[in-house]
Amino acid sequence: MSSWIYRIIFYCVLLSCLLIDTMTAAKRKPPKTDCLETSAKESHHMVSRALDQTAKGRNHTQSSSRQMFTFSRQAPASIQGISKAAEVFQMTLLLLKDKASRRQKRSVSVSELLSAEDVKLLANLSGCPPALQPAGCPTGGDSEKYRSISGVCNNRNNPLWGAASTVLARWLPAEYEDGESQPKGWNTGHKYSGFQLPPVREVSNSIMQSSSQVTLKDEAYSQLLVDWGQYIDHDISFTPQSSSKSAFLEGLDCLHMCENSNPCFPIQIPLRDKLFGRKSCLPFFRSSPACLNAPTHTLQAQQMLQRQQMNSATSFLDASTVYGHSAELEKALRNLSSPEGLLAVNSKHTDHGGHSYLPFVKSTPSACLQQPGTGPSERVECFLAGDSRVNEILPLTALHTLWVREHNRIATRLKQLNVHWSSLTTYQETRKIIGALHQIITMRDYIPKILGDEAFEETVGSYEGYDESLNPSVSNVFATAAFRFGHATISAQIRRLNESFQEHPNFSSLNLHQTFFSPWRIIREGGLDPILRGLLGWPAARQNQQHLMTEELTEKLVVLNIPESLDLAALNLQRGRDHGLPGYNDWRAFCGYDRVESKADLRAVVRDRALVEQLMDLYGHPNNIDVWLAGLVEDPLPGARIGPIFACLIGKQMKTLREGDRFWWEKSGVFSPLQRQELQKHSLSRVFCDNSGLTEVPLDPFTVGMYPKDFVSCASVPSLDLEAWKEDNERDGRDSDSTERHI
Ligand code: HEM
Ligand SMILES: *[C@@H]1O[C@H](CO)[C@@H](O)[C@H](O)[C@H]1NC(C)=O
Ligand SMILES: *[C@@H]1O[C@H](CO)[C@@H](O)[C@H](O)[C@H]1NC(C)=O
Ligand SMILES: *[C@@H]1O[C@H](CO)[C@@H](O)[C@H](O)[C@H]1NC(C)=O
Ligand SMILES: *[C@@H]1O[C@H](CO)[C@@H](O)[C@H](O)[C@H]1NC(C)=O
Ligand SMILES: *[C@@H]1O[C@H](CO)[C@@H](O)[C@H](O)[C@H]1NC(C)=O
Repeated sequence: MSSWIYRIIFYCVLLSCLLIDTMTAAKRKPPKTDCLETSAKESHHMVSRALDQTAKGRNHTQSSSRQMFTFSRQAPASIQGISKAAEVFQMTLLLLKDKASRRQKRSVSVSELLSAEDVKLLANLSGCPPALQPAGCPTGGDSEKYRSISGVCNNRNNPLWGAASTVLARWLPAEYEDGESQPKGWNTGHKYSGFQLPPVREVSNSIMQSSSQVTLKDEAYSQLLVDWGQYIDHDISFTPQSSSKSAFLEGLDCLHMCENSNPCFPIQIPLRDKLFGRKSCLPFFRSSPACLNAPTHTLQAQQMLQRQQMNSATSFLDASTVYGHSAELEKALRNLSSPEGLLAVNSKHTDHGGHSYLPFVKSTPSACLQQPGTGPSERVECFLAGDSRVNEILPLTALHTLWVREHNRIATRLKQLNVHWSSLTTYQETRKIIGALHQIITMRDYIPKILGDEAFEETVGSYEGYDESLNPSVSNVFATAAFRFGHATISAQIRRLNESFQEHPNFSSLNLHQTFFSPWRIIREGGLDPILRGLLGWPAARQNQQHLMTEELTEKLVVLNIPESLDLAALNLQRGRDHGLPGYNDWRAFCGYDRVESKADLRAVVRDRALVEQLMDLYGHPNNIDVWLAGLVEDPLPGARIGPIFACLIGKQMKTLREGDRFWWEKSGVFSPLQRQELQKHSLSRVFCDNSGLTEVPLDPFTVGMYPKDFVSCASVPSLDLEAWKEDNERDGRDSDSTERHI
């Protein structure tokens, strides 16, 4: 579609709003409603057009892996409506602002143009749903016992806190170049503390690639520590990208353009780039904006107008990776014809020992890669799970699969113990147990290893009960920077091991990039077991200031024999700028640390001198260092896998996810004391034992050990006894708990 059509639409909008330029902050009056209406309508038109164009482009079944990668990160169907409305809303603001700025020959901010009422009207005109009122939350019955699927009404006074498809929380206001929506680095020449921000690919080249590519092995922890990190991240956050692949204004294709135009924010490639030298840009899609779906009176005026991003997953540690985050998806994942409340499994293939695989997605052919040389009748489609990123990498798929097996194992047993339970009750009770296990494994076994015991004690500590004043929503800085610490701990290879935990003779180790979106490797190459053994029997990669990130990720993200690839380090940095995250020093201050003002100051927190030189050369001032990078290179805390800033941010988030969750497993009344006792006996090792062909495991699966000396037989791994859920027993347990229950 040629760009002049868009230009014409654009000018029509300007003409229709002649009124608006007469307004200034001094004599504010609401712009004519019909002006807002026309603008919203035109924006709607542009956004729809871009989306249509995208839908057409998506029709190629032979989509390149790069496209596939972007699809997997785009808004899932369940929130495409909201995502589109939010894009329309943002586009309208942009049009109005542009118009007023031209007229007044200076840059005019939206807050000068529109009153809070106008903004609400505009949100409505754009199609944003109204904020849910507290009165809307049910009480009694199932709403006391089970989480809603979307997380809505977990907090009864603030029903949207932590719910799917709501805004990522801001712990510090965004720092956009125009104060409202333009990413950092959008305008050439824009200075921060006197310096322009270095292009992200240049940062990646000079810092990541100069780091040694020899993989350091973690002396204490197994590869599972890394993959649990990714899995659990997917339980708590998913920031969808714009659903459009072409620019709203000009209609140009984001994949082949180098200018910044919403939603495209391409990554500039430096001259003489080792790998991407012949191109001038890598594609980048801005994250989808959020609708104003918090009750607006709780937001500062400034924040209300700032572009915000969404979390399409529920923030809670609730196993949404297993059950999904919308009623529609939940229904697709369940086996509705089973009296035991099972989850649906693959009907075409099974693993060794009859263990099930995840079902395939319903709409085929799916985008997943196929085994070379196989025909259309032998296709292995993408797997379907509660989170759409399940196919990204084999270990992630394996963890998703284990939990579906565990659900079905527990549900079957619960139904035997309580034959009178309906399919739905059995399903919900099982879901509640699986959610609790996700919380226990994460908070008891995983997080302390990342933070170190000291920082864990300081930032998270022991459970102190439900705090309904805490907003559990995942924060922008957590999802966009802090919890991406894990990207530096990923090994270049995926190990597949045989029964004696040695290199599998039939299925050799794979380079990471050979496993992206390749579910066929599970079905055709030995099932889950060799991968699971690789997670337990191989050390995690250890990152330090000389060893930052593997080239498998900075050069080869998602390629398979196609000379197109992405750079995950550059993506992380660009994402932080897209979201307007404040720089390193602001987060230091947020966490109660002194600012670092000079090279000498920086040396006190980053020991490696050469690295400090590089950082100062690139950024000019420590203020400017992107928080993801700064967090990654800080000296680690004792016994931790991260430094102080990430420990502060991750610790704070974990505390809100725990204390802000009305269904947290330790909250009194959620489980009986007996049930809590049983839940604590369980472990991820036990889940491996019960749901795969593994017969020997380490007691702590996150600790790396030698086979056979550090492994024990599954027979000696403790397990939760489901008798505690037999209805009579449960009543006994609850009675003794009755004093705690009325809270
Ligand atoms: C081989 C393994 C992994 C691959 C291929 C991978 C890839 C990706 C990609 C492509 C993104 C989106 C980047 C963007 O456009 O902004 C992403 C986001 C993210 N990754 Fe990873 N990742 C991996 C492992 C991990 C691990 C181990 C962790 C944490 C311990 C992690 C944490 C995150 C987080 C928190 C996000 C943001 C999620 C959101 O809110 O959307 N990832 N990852
Ligand atoms: C995709 O292609 C099929 C067949 O070629 C066609 O029927 C369908 O309308 C196309 N879809 C879109 C969105 O263009
Ligand atoms: C906008 O407001 C009108 C009138 O209050 C309402 O009927 C309509 O449903 C709202 N639109 C949206 C998308 O909520
Ligand atoms: C649903 O459960 C029944 C057993 O109750 C089983 O026979 C059937 O194969 C299951 N279907 C799916 C899709 O998992
Ligand atoms: C596992 O593979 C190694 C070779 O990598 C072989 O020596 C060993 O016997 C195999 N173990 C089993 C139990 O098959
Ligand atoms: C490995 O391959 C050989 C030869 O194809 C086969 O006989 C053997 O059963 C395979 N072993 C495993 C564990 O798949």
